[in-house]
Amino acid sequence: MGGALSLAAAALLKEISAAAPFYGIPNEHLCDITTINIPVQAHFGENDPIKNFSSKDDALLLKLKQRNNTKFELHMYANCGHAFIDPTYPAKYNQEASVLALGRVVTFMNKWLADNSHL
Ligand SMILES: *[C@@H]1O[C@H](CO)[C@@H](O)[C@H](O)[C@H]1NC(C)=O
Ligand SMILES: *[C@@H]1O[C@H](CO)[C@@H](O)[C@H](O)[C@H]1NC(C)=O
Repeated sequence: MGGALSLAAAALLKEISAAAPFYGIPNEHLCDITTINIPVQAHFGENDPIKNFSSKDDALLLKLKQRNNTKFELHMYANCGHAFIDPTYPAKYNQEASVLALGRVVTFMNKWLADNSHL
């Protein structure tokens, strides 16, 4: 739920400056993710099984993929399912991908939150 909540906040709240959602996309009835204007860095597992929310071939994920650029990044992780950065789920946790993803988040937030002139 955190990833979808993060994207919904990015779409709906003016107070948010940047978002880094992990594996989750809000329902189209809730908000339109194509209208997001703040920097977003989204992270999804290639093997995520949750349809219409975070699986690889979802229409919602394709919308994110179409927007992939320096301000709206989409990263897919091989050999990862849902919750791949959560070490409390050993069956789902992928340490190598987690380190890579969290490093990307830190770099991204440092880049976009250090300077708000783009907002
Ligand atoms: C999932 O998405 C497909 C295609 O967008 C849609 O036809 C289907 O009704 C959706 N399923 C659910 C459970 O929302
Ligand atoms: C998004 O763009 C980056 C940078 O060009 C690239 O490394 C990455 O593979 C792209 N993501 C997807 C899902 O295509």
